[in-house]
Amino acid sequence: MVSKEIVRVVGVERVYRAGHEEVRALRSVDLTVHQGKMIALMGRSGSGKTTLLNIIGGLDRPTAGQVWIGGQLLSQLPDQALTELRRNQIGFVFQSFALIPVLSALENVELPMHIAGVPRGARHQRALDLLHLVGLTKRVHHRPFELSGGEQQRVGIARALANQPSLLLADEPTGELDSVTGLQILKLFLRIASDGVTVVIATHDPTVSEIAHETYDLVDGVLGLREPELAEIV
Ligand SMILES: Nc1ncnc2c1ncn2[C@@H]1O[C@H](COP(=O)(O)OP(=O)(O)O)[C@@H](O)[C@H]1O
Ligand SMILES: [Mg+2]
Repeated sequence: MVSKEIVRVVGVERVYRAGHEEVRALRSVDLTVHQGKMIALMGRSGSGKTTLLNIIGGLDRPTAGQVWIGGQLLSQLPDQALTELRRNQIGFVFQSFALIPVLSALENVELPMHIAGVPRGARHQRALDLLHLVGLTKRVHHRPFELSGGEQQRVGIARALANQPSLLLADEPTGELDSVTGLQILKLFLRIASDGVTVVIATHDPTVSEIAHETYDLVDGVLGLREPELAEIV
């Protein structure tokens, strides 16, 4: 069986203009990601990782080229439809977690469902289930400052999964974690991918490429697939 194409990027360019300066952040980028895959987008600071992730997530529009998410061409969607696609099909995970400090773990995970209009009972139960999935059953009433960095990122991942997205986009999700905790978070992403959610991780953390199904390198806005090491094939 051919697995479903979740992300399709063709010929994407992104030029930023600041005054008289032009930055070509992405140059002719092509990328296809299939369902259930965990992909690493690697590159040093300034190579264009966040720009590409934002374009895939419909937060930014390319200067040229096309992006399809689950078969929908983003440039043809009216604003409202794009907002709904972002809300229902895409989950975002951030380096600094971006949790709301006055809300408990449970309330943070419930929030996107609240916004999407999920009834109270259903969103409460789903938030509990998601916190269980990420291993935080005993922390549901803790607020972010009462949690470790790794625990906060688990809440961030549970929140990203709240509206049952087909695609998770994570920007440097291990950037503020120690290596042991970071590895646990990467293994959690891998488990989520094995449940059929596609995961795209932008990072400069080399551990991610050891765990991901495929690794792409971004160098000055040019994306290339990294060939697997011979040792990994044999
Ligand atoms: N809003 C912006 N305006 C102008 N230049 C930007 C903007 N955002 C990013 N850039 C530039 O685009 C390039 C890629 O940035 P970015 O995608 O953030 O890279 P990365 O996430 O890999 O560090 C960098 O040269 C950066 O300075
Ligand atoms: Mg970045």
